[in-house]
Amino acid sequence: MATLVDHPCVQHKLAIIRDVETGHKRFRELATEITKFVCYEALKHVRTKEITVETPVAPAACRKIDTDLVVVPILRAGVGMLEGILELVPTARVGFVGLYRDEETKQPVTYYERFPPQIRGGTCIVIDPMLATGGSTVAALDLLKNSGAEDIVVVCIVTCPEGVELVEAAHPDVRIYAAAIDDRLNEKKYIVPGLGDAGDRLFGTSHH
Ligand code: PRP
Ligand code: URA
Repeated sequence: MATLVDHPCVQHKLAIIRDVETGHKRFRELATEITKFVCYEALKHVRTKEITVETPVAPAACRKIDTDLVVVPILRAGVGMLEGILELVPTARVGFVGLYRDEETKQPVTYYERFPPQIRGGTCIVIDPMLATGGSTVAALDLLKNSGAEDIVVVCIVTCPEGVELVEAAHPDVRIYAAAIDDRLNEKKYIVPGLGDAGDRLFGTSHH
């Protein structure tokens, strides 16, 4: 299931991050800001426990998050979303999956994997700005589940129906949250209209 975070504050920032004239410094800032809002929605269903807190006046019935949170950026572009989610949940642990899309085959190639043990029993949040064909996300979910993760959500900035369908078919239990669900993929398997190559735009390795 994919949930679109259709809030005006998110959509306003999305309009700026998509703009071809937005440079890497502003692109990074916007990726952080958008991620914080989308993750806020994605964590809506996280387990909480009821506790009592003594205010200066009286006991207050409160709730605290009651699961180990593990954020898993897909290298490299997922790193551009890490700061935003850690501002929201500063005590989260961080695991990494290194994947790149082979330019010829468009298939994901895994080059790194390192997870904290809390992926077992905890809640994992996979972050990657672009969920295009869905191949990279499915590969990351396969790696996480093979290592014992059960409760996983995916947070991206832009996705498209093809990518959502691939993830849903392979991992129907995993919810996807996005700031945009765009029209389609082009012949290079880029999201249209999308925002271009997220890794290049985040890290200044392109012309913009
Ligand atoms: C991009 C993006 C995703 C993947 C999406 O990464 O950050 O990981 O492509 O495509 P998919 O859904 O079709 O698999 P890329 O391979 O460009 O690597 P990078 O993050 O190192 O730039
Ligand atoms: N990777 C990106 O960075 N952008 C796309 O549109 C597709 C894959």
